[in-house]
Amino acid sequence: MKVSVSKAEPNTLALEAIGFFVPRASKEKSLTALNAMAGIVAAGLNGDFKAEEGEVLILYPQKENFKAKRVFVLGVGQKFSLDAVRKSAASMATKIREMKLPKVGINLTEINAIASEMQEEESYIAQAVVEGFELGLYDYNKLKTDRIQALKDKKHKSEPKFEFKELVLITSAASLKAVESGAKVGEVIGSAQSMVRDLINSPSNYMNATELANAAKASGKKYGYKVTVFDKKKIQQLKMGGLLGVNQGSNEPPTFSILDYTPEGKPKATIALVGKGVTFDTGGISLKPSENMSDMKSDMSGAADVIGAVEIAARLKLPIRVIGLIPATDNKPSGTAQNPGDVLTTYSGITVEVDNTDAEGRLILADALTYAKEEYAPDVIIDLATLTGACVIALGYQAAGLFTNNDDLAEKLSKAGMRSGEKVWRMPLWDDYDKQIKSEVADIKNTGGKGAGAITAAKFLEKFIGDHKAWAHLDIAGPSFPSMGSSGAKSSSGFGVRLLAEVLRNWN
Ligand code: BES
Ligand code: MN
Ligand code: ZN
Repeated sequence: MKVSVSKAEPNTLALEAIGFFVPRASKEKSLTALNAMAGIVAAGLNGDFKAEEGEVLILYPQKENFKAKRVFVLGVGQKFSLDAVRKSAASMATKIREMKLPKVGINLTEINAIASEMQEEESYIAQAVVEGFELGLYDYNKLKTDRIQALKDKKHKSEPKFEFKELVLITSAASLKAVESGAKVGEVIGSAQSMVRDLINSPSNYMNATELANAAKASGKKYGYKVTVFDKKKIQQLKMGGLLGVNQGSNEPPTFSILDYTPEGKPKATIALVGKGVTFDTGGISLKPSENMSDMKSDMSGAADVIGAVEIAARLKLPIRVIGLIPATDNKPSGTAQNPGDVLTTYSGITVEVDNTDAEGRLILADALTYAKEEYAPDVIIDLATLTGACVIALGYQAAGLFTNNDDLAEKLSKAGMRSGEKVWRMPLWDDYDKQIKSEVADIKNTGGKGAGAITAAKFLEKFIGDHKAWAHLDIAGPSFPSMGSSGAKSSSGFGVRLLAEVLRNWN
């Protein structure tokens, strides 16, 4: 999506549509002003339009000297907030996609006043508008051909898919620079998030471990960072027993990808991001029930987020080194699959009893966490994983579980969550939970019984970061693939991309 910034008067721009944000707190005043500019009969619509967050009213301007074809009145709820701005820009974009309008504007002429009301930077508000617009425009339609319709119409070819061309942010001369810089960042983050959503929404027959590694390679090539992929032979040489154990039942080889963005000059810090890359989770021999099993194509969400985050760091030329580590495989039952009760030796040397083959994420992350720590001695390690159903029970689709051994990192992630709109909630890592993952036959086992499933999974991972002082685990099982998202549709949200971008951009 192209984003441009204009300081022309909104009425002079001959666009398909212009969106105007309207908070409930100043609804009448805003509508009266809009009526004066465009001629939209504000008195009549005042009652119809509630200015609720995400509400969109489409009107047709009557004023001769108002050049745009449509006015989109965008509710933001009681007053402006970053979440409200993102959601309302997203609602407009979804309509724009449905109506197939290729070039539209959003009015930000009063961004200065909005920013002081919100106590937020103008550039960040512009960024949120662009992120939201990109979110709303998103549609996973790669695998739809319209072939049936084409045959009905006796045509050889399907209609070309709608492609949105340009978003124009309309602002004042004084705010032009801030809006421009925010829009640029928003476009980088928004497009990375769309790419990530595509990877996650891809069904497993389009996304195996090799294809996931290829996606990382393609991103590295496009944006100039290094990607190394270990194949099965190399993974065997390294004795990554966790990854190999999960892969044992599969016909497809595992991959272990390393993404390395190193800035010019001395990096301020090295941050390792580890992402769970289970391209499809059947549960293995501990087979999952078939209802909703198709959702498990999204079990590589953490891995996709990591690709997105490294891509953003490279595109924004952030002054930190970011290493992405992605262990990838599917989890399948077969004659060669591992059985419950089997004992694996992980890359760290720690032995694990596989009490349940469906607790596979922690097995592959174990190897990647140890590898991250030993090979890169990073200042911080953050892992992202669709790790437990228990975390979905605890926090629903609205927030990720945060587990960390570092209070400073907890604060950084919590703050970044609030600002980016991808919220996290801290949960405990007390040693009281250790007894739940004790094994009779190995060092630990990969399940922790009925209670505290998200916590015992995190306690398991903790064993593999050794004495590292700044590690955080994000259980994104709920928010990454919400089955009751804003649209009600089952689809990837790309949760984690904006959160990581916010953390990385503010690193000091
Ligand atoms: N990928 C699942 C977790 C999951 C569940 C993600 C629902 C998204 C939505 C994970 O591999 C898993 O199966 N976890 C088990 C662990 C259990 C066997 C200890 C779970 O949560 O049931
Ligand atoms: Mn599983
Ligand atoms: Zn899984």
